[in-house]
Amino acid sequence: MPVLAVIGCQWGDEGKGKIVDILSKDAHTIARYQGGHNAGHTVVIGASEEGGKEEKYILHLLPSGIIHPGKRCYIGNGMVVDPKALVKEIEEVEAQGISVEGRLFISERAHIILPYHHVYDQNEETLKGSQKIGTTGRGIGPAYSDKYQRIGIRAVDLLDEEYLEKYLRENLESKKLLLNNRYNHPGFEFQSIWDELMEYKKKIAPYIHNVFHLICDDITQDRKVLIEGAQGVMLDIDHGTYPYVTSSNASVGGACTGLGIPPSSINKVLGVIKAYTTRVGEGPFPTELKGEEGNYLRDHGHEYGATTGRPRRCGWFDGVIAQFAVMVNGITDLALTKLDVLDNCQKIKVCVGYKYKNVIHDEMPASLKVLENCEPVYQEFDGWMSQTTGIPTFEELPDKAKTYVEAISNIVGIDFSIVSTGQKRQETIMIKSIF
Ligand code: IMP
Repeated sequence: MPVLAVIGCQWGDEGKGKIVDILSKDAHTIARYQGGHNAGHTVVIGASEEGGKEEKYILHLLPSGIIHPGKRCYIGNGMVVDPKALVKEIEEVEAQGISVEGRLFISERAHIILPYHHVYDQNEETLKGSQKIGTTGRGIGPAYSDKYQRIGIRAVDLLDEEYLEKYLRENLESKKLLLNNRYNHPGFEFQSIWDELMEYKKKIAPYIHNVFHLICDDITQDRKVLIEGAQGVMLDIDHGTYPYVTSSNASVGGACTGLGIPPSSINKVLGVIKAYTTRVGEGPFPTELKGEEGNYLRDHGHEYGATTGRPRRCGWFDGVIAQFAVMVNGITDLALTKLDVLDNCQKIKVCVGYKYKNVIHDEMPASLKVLENCEPVYQEFDGWMSQTTGIPTFEELPDKAKTYVEAISNIVGIDFSIVSTGQKRQETIMIKSIF
């Protein structure tokens, strides 16, 4: 049962898109299981490959495997899908010469994001003021709230107009009260939402399927399935820095519920981890660098959100988080990304514990107070001060870069299978085959 899950081990933006893209060539199926168009996965295909010009794809809802012709891509039941965003993304990839026909499958059970979810998300953030979460404003949290309140509308409902009309009218009626009273918003007219939805339905209805059945069939038939996580473990609703998290289980447990597959079917879990740390939005970030060093990492790592364009907060590698991510996800293999961003740093630090009130915590604290007020305990490394981009083997890396990579690997207790040294596919060191 060759099922490999690719999971973000920090606060998202670890470079999972590139890793999934590389592994997709060997997969039959690539499946997403949680989140929605809050995610932004960037894949760059270099000019020298495939004989064409450089192509850059930024994917939000479609699994990164979509850019590989012939691969099947699933949008799992655990995802929340904005039909408008999905249609736009399908049109964008089609304009880049990629056909999704016959290979994109959207779970009937995936929940639908509607315009009032966006309004709710953005207004709640405004009302929270300085306590805001810093969401992407895409309506993700409110759509998951509706799911758990058991009033959500699912992809399958788009196919049943009678049912859809009844539930959409009911939802609009109950949301109107909230929109009027809490946000001073006039609410939405049924007809305009309906008309828009019917337009999107024309485009996406052919892709709505029983994805649970399809993926189970893939697993039984021993086809290679690549499961693509979005966000990262520190944004997981249960295991992340709550409440500064997203609204789904980004860690591997979410893959079982979000696709309908048994835990025993996942035989490998690849953790993707960046050579330093970033986060977007608010919330504690113990190793954050607020001055020159943070700006350096942001500029050299192009650390601006692929979805919102927001500058990412940057800081040193955090070993406490990495160890926690390995435990929560049962990581079996690791990929290190963006090593090249550290190429010109004279000194590099790695956090190995959090000091709070004279106690060193080497386990991930749940308390926001501890996370917000702790002092990172660092180990310091000499930088290698030379370019690593495109170096083909681990052995050929500068000695000090190897020392740094090995130190991280010792902290988490797992060797790296992949080290990425640039955006392009060929700027990747494959140390061990995983899939
Ligand atoms: P939401 O998912 O839009 O509700 O946002 C909740 C938190 O998750 C915010 O801090 C976002 O910045 C963060 N977030 C959501 N998606 C991503 C992502 O793909 N990468 C990094 N951060 C994300």
